[in-house]
Amino acid sequence: MTRALDTEKTVTKHLLTILDLPGQEAGRLLARAAQFKAGPDSSGLLSGKTVVLVFEKSSTRTRVSFEVAVRQMGGQSLLLTPVESQLGRNEPLKDTARVLSRYCDCLVVRTFGQEKLNILAEYGSVPVINALTDDFHPCQVLSDVFTMYERTPGLEDLRVAWIGDGNNMAHSWINAAAVFPFSLHLACPDGYRPRPAILERALDMGARICLGSDPAQAARGAHYLNTDVWASMGQEGEQSEREEAFRGFQVNEALLSLAAPGCGVMHCLPAHRGEEITDQVLEGPASLIFDQAENRLHMQKAILEWIFRA
Ligand code: CP
Ligand code: NVA
Repeated sequence: MTRALDTEKTVTKHLLTILDLPGQEAGRLLARAAQFKAGPDSSGLLSGKTVVLVFEKSSTRTRVSFEVAVRQMGGQSLLLTPVESQLGRNEPLKDTARVLSRYCDCLVVRTFGQEKLNILAEYGSVPVINALTDDFHPCQVLSDVFTMYERTPGLEDLRVAWIGDGNNMAHSWINAAAVFPFSLHLACPDGYRPRPAILERALDMGARICLGSDPAQAARGAHYLNTDVWASMGQEGEQSEREEAFRGFQVNEALLSLAAPGCGVMHCLPAHRGEEITDQVLEGPASLIFDQAENRLHMQKAILEWIFRA
């Protein structure tokens, strides 16, 4: 009996990048996020479940949207940071993974190296959700694609531009272009391009991606203009050299004027006004930025539901 149950045991789901989503699941998450946003009662979906948020970097949106989502779905959440846990005293992650797995049902993790998530997933026995690493931010890009889908459900005709750093968000958009049918046009300064292996994998999967270093070329005819900070968390010491390198990579009125009529401007936040985006554009009529932020909550619910669905 025990053996039969063991062989039927389902594989633990993880969301370390959006390439972990099987088949049509990414599309289903968009539809489900729309249903959650429309208001169906989500209470009870996580009844009896405890989600631990392990956050080694700061967060406002990701942390609060996950905690609120878990609570609205009837589960419990708690936050663990390095300051008040043994994480800050270098307890091996493989030990932390096994211990936390005995207390909770899911780990939502924000950390530095992507390999840390791999260790948690390998040694733990509960699902691991990537809440941002130096390499990827899958939950953010899923809610960003949802923000586009709400306005323009036919994603295949869309031209999306990325202006700025080839960072964790750029990598996530590259993965998204391999999963969803829009085309992606990136403009990144030399020396700050996305990692070639990530790009090559997406291209091998059929993604339509152009990479260059001219923001005007990327922005021309775009239906969505995306950007992010010039120095991500952990890169604060490079701020001044990055300001130099990224001059000319600002999303401003001039760049927006090259885009398609009705173009939406996106930024995952937090933003540095006057650097990667002007205050005028961030606060202007093309900005979708606070809808993106709201949509984190609806998409976290869709992700959690998928993680816990048998
Ligand atoms: N966009 C985003 O992940 O924001 P936080 O860093 O506030 O979570
Ligand atoms: N690229 C940014 C995204 C923040 C949500 C960072 O990693 O700091």
